Amino acid sequence: MPLKKIRSYLIAKSYDYAMRSTEKKCLHGWRKDLLSQASGDLLEIGAGTGVNLPLYPDAVTQIVLSEPDAQMRKNLVRKSEDLQKDRLNITHWEAESIEMPDASFDTIVSTLVLCSVPNLEASLNEIYRLLRPNGLFLFLEHIISNHPPTLTWQRRIEPFWSFCAGNCRLTRDTAAAIQATGLHFELLTEAPMAGAPVFVNRTIRGSARK
Ligand SMILES: C[S@@+](CC[C@H](N)C(=O)[O-])C[C@H]1O[C@@H](n2cnc3c(N)ncnc32)[C@H](O)[C@@H]1O
Repeated sequence: MPLKKIRSYLIAKSYDYAMRSTEKKCLHGWRKDLLSQASGDLLEIGAGTGVNLPLYPDAVTQIVLSEPDAQMRKNLVRKSEDLQKDRLNITHWEAESIEMPDASFDTIVSTLVLCSVPNLEASLNEIYRLLRPNGLFLFLEHIISNHPPTLTWQRRIEPFWSFCAGNCRLTRDTAAAIQATGLHFELLTEAPMAGAPVFVNRTIRGSARK
């Protein structure tokens, strides 16, 4: 089996277990608050193992999940057998290239994905293109540290971390990148992710409108 496939198998197998403490300490509550704002036709990019699936409110009419990693997608299919299946469509699309017409969605969701996409700018431009006028982008992401010694460490370990953690980058200024697309923040909260290592614990979450 090629190294890339082994890595992706191991990440998909261990993801929920590795995240369980952080989910309990903060992520689950953050996800719940954030996703309660979702409505209408919804796209989630990089849906992973499907942790957001149980949290979508009834106001969401259709859910399109994009997950390019085949191993992650297997978990997603398994989880979706019990959840949301009447309004769900699972795809292999990458965030940089979603095969849907302009203005297809009322809500787009990204949780812990914009750190991992190969091209951040292209992914955000795609989100902008796909949102309907007045559509809402809901995000929860870890970002570059504002503490100089931590930033030095982030830069040092980023190549190794990125290799082990599925291309996850530690030094992205995702809030600035979201703003640069032309989306307008309605809510932007910054908080440390409890239970996560210090070099990956600065997060932003909130909503931005087209
Ligand atoms: C850290 S996991 C987050 C999973 C999930 N969103 C969550 O909140 O737990 C990052 C996910 O982004 C996906 N991903 C990586 N590159 C991507 C891309 N170009 N487009 C969409 N998803 C991508 C990975 O396969 C993985 O499932």
